[in-house]
Amino acid sequence: MKVVVRAPSNIAFIKYWGKKNEKLRIPANSSISMNLSDAYTETSVEFKKILSDDLVIIDGKKIDGKEKERIGRHLNLIRKMARINFFAEVLSKNNFPKGAGIASSASGFAALTLAGVKAAGLNLSEKELSVLARLGSGSACRSIPDGFVEWKKGSKSSDSYAYSLKSPEYWDIRDIIVVVGEKSKKVGSTEGHKEATSSPFYKARISEMDKKIADIKLALKNKDFTKFGRIVEEEAINMHTVMMTSKPPLFYWLPKTLEIMQSITTWREAGLETYFTIDAGPNIHVICRSKDVRKVKTKLEKIQGVKKIIINRVSKGARIVK
Ligand code: DP6
Repeated sequence: MKVVVRAPSNIAFIKYWGKKNEKLRIPANSSISMNLSDAYTETSVEFKKILSDDLVIIDGKKIDGKEKERIGRHLNLIRKMARINFFAEVLSKNNFPKGAGIASSASGFAALTLAGVKAAGLNLSEKELSVLARLGSGSACRSIPDGFVEWKKGSKSSDSYAYSLKSPEYWDIRDIIVVVGEKSKKVGSTEGHKEATSSPFYKARISEMDKKIADIKLALKNKDFTKFGRIVEEEAINMHTVMMTSKPPLFYWLPKTLEIMQSITTWREAGLETYFTIDAGPNIHVICRSKDVRKVKTKLEKIQGVKKIIINRVSKGARIVK
């Protein structure tokens, strides 16, 4: 049976950086995110008797090497659970251009998980799907449930999973992705996570995480945008400080990144309330209220060097489309 799934990418407000168990992708801290309506992956999976190897095609290109091995390992987990030994045909498409600097591992592994599980004839709960997606890429576990999501760090594999805190309709905030760099990054997040503990600030970061999670959940509950935004910005700077002070240091920002961060601060001082967050790359995510989207977009369009702007609402999690 061929199953097609669409899964959103997500942006973390409280980030996952550093693992307690590298192989099982158990994070050092819990994280909070929202699913993105306009950055998603659509994947079909079919297990076929006639195949002599897994066939993986992403955005029209046949995948080999390390990327294929990682997908193969994930398919092996599904094959083991379903007790099948057929290879799979995996066809995957991102709606955002590859190399746009937008991470596809969250949406990619969430889509692969749900499509693979269904194609193998398994019926898993949302929690079990999230656990399985996490084993492919940590942040993918947050793309399974709907809307605003918390990934509970847990203490073992079976209790490290994400669940929905609030539905997509709960709060109409937006994430505007501002693409300023399109080259793929030198150090990907899986490699970066390993370096986190080498920063002298890592321990301090981790010791504050439980409080940060509690604070942002309260801001979300109260729909307190100012409090929410301040926590989000502080958190992004905090994670990037750990990155920049790791050994060797990881600098993901470009000059444009900093320029836009400063613009956002200036706009805010002038009354346009927006906040930024940044993942393991140079692109900026501008968080704003729905009423301010057009104003923010117009301002961003005037900045030279902005390559693409993607406006996201809060979205549902991974879904079967066929
Ligand atoms: C900076 O989920 O890509 O985006 O588990 O090794 O696949 P792996 O890492 P990944 O890390 C994401 C890091 C981040 C922060 C976040 O999304 O929470």
